[in-house]
Amino acid sequence: MPTHDIVIVGAGLAGMRAAIEASKEVNVAIVTKVHPLRSHSGAAQGGINAALGPDDSWEKHSFDTVKGSDYLGDQESIIAMCKEAPDDLVAMERMGAVFTRDAEGKMAVRPFGGAGFARTAYAADFTGHVLLHTMYEQLMKAGVTVYEEWFVTSIVAENGECRGVVARELTTGRLQEIRAKAVIMATGGLGRVYHKSTNAHVSTGDGMGQALQAGAALKDMEMTQFHPTALASNGVLITEGARGEGGYLLNSLGERFMQKYAPNKWELASRDVVSRAIQTEVEEGRGIDGCCLLDVRHLGAKRILAALPQIRELAMDFAGVDCIDEPIPIRPGMHYSMGGISTDVDGAATLKGLYAAGECACVSVHGANRLGGNSLLETIVFGRRSGTAAAKYVKEVALNEFPKGAVARDQAKIDDILGRKKGEKVVTVRDELNMNMITNFGIFREQGKMGTGLDKVKELQERYEKVVVDDKGKVFNTDIIAALELGYMLELAEAIGKGALAREESRGAHCRRDFPNRDDDKWLRHTLALQKGGEIKLEYSPVSITMFKPEVRSY
Ligand code: FUM
Repeated sequence: MPTHDIVIVGAGLAGMRAAIEASKEVNVAIVTKVHPLRSHSGAAQGGINAALGPDDSWEKHSFDTVKGSDYLGDQESIIAMCKEAPDDLVAMERMGAVFTRDAEGKMAVRPFGGAGFARTAYAADFTGHVLLHTMYEQLMKAGVTVYEEWFVTSIVAENGECRGVVARELTTGRLQEIRAKAVIMATGGLGRVYHKSTNAHVSTGDGMGQALQAGAALKDMEMTQFHPTALASNGVLITEGARGEGGYLLNSLGERFMQKYAPNKWELASRDVVSRAIQTEVEEGRGIDGCCLLDVRHLGAKRILAALPQIRELAMDFAGVDCIDEPIPIRPGMHYSMGGISTDVDGAATLKGLYAAGECACVSVHGANRLGGNSLLETIVFGRRSGTAAAKYVKEVALNEFPKGAVARDQAKIDDILGRKKGEKVVTVRDELNMNMITNFGIFREQGKMGTGLDKVKELQERYEKVVVDDKGKVFNTDIIAALELGYMLELAEAIGKGALAREESRGAHCRRDFPNRDDDKWLRHTLALQKGGEIKLEYSPVSITMFKPEVRSY
């Protein structure tokens, strides 16, 4: 049986950063369902935050992040991230990441939403792509074993302790135990639970679902971020960097409507505020075919080609619009899960030996709303921290027995699905789930719709037990993988729904029409979701508040 000190699941920025760090000390392997360079981290466009300028500071970055989170972010974690950001960014640059430079040859920074300073460093609008390739080079140099195109079917735990994973090799269909003293989940987000997400098709939340099934707690799953500017046609991201560069939003009357909603920050308010504003304009009849417009024409062709070349291509390819000459039709799109596997500031989850980093984790640096540019930052800071912490842990513990029967259990589940002859296809259930989530757990929420939405999730969970797959083969059977992914998506939908229905207040991205105000007396607390007796049960835990007392939040 293959044995490593640490197995990392996922090969995006957080997973690779964890691997590079931990492999300095111990034996590490990565298991990933796609080639590392196809990870969703590569889709990040606008940049990565760090207080680099002489007038900026980690304290100011922390304050903006705490305020952005609507005070639900854990301040211990936020402060650690903001303090370590400049060094981690410079480390990435030393590894070879080519950042855009300013006129003095320093790392250029652009303003991003909800930030008091221009502190988002960038590589044109390909920042994630550049960081991902740099990290991959370092991973190769470190000689880490990569199980490439292997899908983890379960995290294996016994006596409250992680023992490794079971994974399916996609090329052969073989299931294999991979034994380890610690497992780091770095599987990214769950965007594909929603209709028209900005996320890649691989972002199905498997890692969060696997952690839940292994007994770990998820945190703040109701906190779903909508990015204000997704392409109308297919939800592809149009970077916030466009507004950072000076682009603005228009309604059908040609008005820069953000002035009404955020008189101080306009288009550079936090994402929850801007998304709600666009949605309101559309709902009140000032949209254009369900969209508003993002106008960057005034930046001029030279700046657009230098700073925003990718979004120009994307708008031309998918909207038939050249943003040098015409505004881009945009609407909010599901972008990010602030919630995830509950961890401490070193990435340790609630199950011994399990760690998590990146979007699948909730270290709680984003609280109820993430600031743009803090996601790439989180991957490298907490990827590194979880790699360090897991390496320390595995040096202190013995390698315990891998429980018998784990492979047989997962094989039986797969065989059961493969053995079904007649029934609904996976895609039918998944499409209904996607529509249900966007309709009932979208930008604006209310009790009645969420109740209906949760009933629908339950109905889909029952139908899921009977779905069929057409491909019964072993070689690259992506049909069976899609079926397994859907199981996790349904479970996560239940966690999102139950958390959202229970939270009777509005905070950050969680905006309830029936409870329009933030309620710190009752709800300044984290939601924990646990799998108990076949369903999601909620518990609550306190928020770490150290430097910044909750205040009214406005932009
Ligand atoms: O708009 C963007 O470029 C996205 C950045 C982020 O989500 O951090």
